Amino acid sequence: MSKLILITGASTGIGAETARHLASGNEIFVHYNTSKHAAEDVAVDVENLGGKAYPLQADLSTEAGCNALVKAIFERTNKLDVLINNAGGLIKRQSVREYEWRLMEEIFALNTFSAMMVTSLCIPLLEKGNDPCIINISSVAMRHGAPTATIYGASKSALDSFTRGIAKELAPTIRVNAVSPGVIISPFHDKYSTPEQLEAWRDGNPLKKNGEPFHIAQAIKFIVENDFMNGETIDVNGGLYMR
Ligand SMILES: NC(=O)c1ccc[n+]([C@@H]2O[C@H](COP(=O)([O-])OP(=O)(O)OC[C@H]3O[C@@H](n4cnc5c(N)ncnc54)[C@H](OP(=O)(O)O)[C@@H]3O)[C@@H](O)[C@H]2O)c1
Repeated sequence: MSKLILITGASTGIGAETARHLASGNEIFVHYNTSKHAAEDVAVDVENLGGKAYPLQADLSTEAGCNALVKAIFERTNKLDVLINNAGGLIKRQSVREYEWRLMEEIFALNTFSAMMVTSLCIPLLEKGNDPCIINISSVAMRHGAPTATIYGASKSALDSFTRGIAKELAPTIRVNAVSPGVIISPFHDKYSTPEQLEAWRDGNPLKKNGEPFHIAQAIKFIVENDFMNGETIDVNGGLYMR
C-alpha cells in the first residue's frame, strides 16, 4: 500500500538518499530549508523512481517554521504514514571552554526542538495513517563523546531520549524509533569537518571506511517496513561505536 511520508532535510545527504530509497510507489513530502534546487532534483528522482514528490520549504529552527511546514502538509492531506525527523546540523564546532548561550539554543533548536515540535504537530495526521511510524535521526556523537561537537552530541542524546519516551506514550498507535548514523560522507562534513578528521575517523573504524547516505537509508526503510520495531535506536557506524 502506498505510504505518505514526510522527510525533513530531504534536500541533501541522508534525507535525499532516504527519499530515493523510499520513492517507489510512495508519496513523499521533500522538505528543505535553503537548498531549493537540490530538493527539486530529489523530487525529480523520486518521480523517476515511481513515486510522487512534493517539495516544501521551512526553517525548522524556529517554532514558526515548524508550524508553517505542518500547516502546508495539512493543506494537502489529512493523514501521514511516516515522519522522518532528519533535518539537523552541527552549526559550529566549539570548545566547552567557550560556550555561548545563543549557540546552545541554536543547536538544540535545530536538532531537538524542531523534531519535537514537528512530531507534536503531526500526531493528528499520523493517527490516521497506516502502521504509522516516526523515525528520528540521532548521531554517534551522542554515544562516544565528540570533542568540540559536545552541544550537538547532547542535542542528539535528548532526541534519543525523546524517542523512547514517545515510543511508550504513542503506543500502540504510532511506532517510534531512531537511527544513529556514524560518520557518513555527506554535505554535513563539507561544512563541519576537515579532510584530516574524516581520514582519522576512517582509520579508526574497524571496517576502515566511513559510511554513505544509503547505509542510513537502508536502516530507515527497514524500520518503516517492520511493524514490530518500536522504541529502538539502530546504530549504523561500521563498529566505530559498539554497545
Ligand atoms: N553525515 C554524518 O556523518 C552524520 C552523522 C550523524 C548524524 N547525522 C545527522 O543526519 C541528519 C542529516 O545529515 P546529513 O549528513 O544528510 O547532512 P546534510 O547533507 O547537511 O543535510 C542536512 C539537512 O538538514 C536541513 N537543514 C539544516 N538546517 C535546517 C533548518 N534550519 N531548517 C530546516 N532544515 C534544515 C538541510 O536543508 P537545506 O540544505 O535545504 O538548508 C539539509 O536538508 C542530520 O540530522 C545530522 O545531524 C549526520
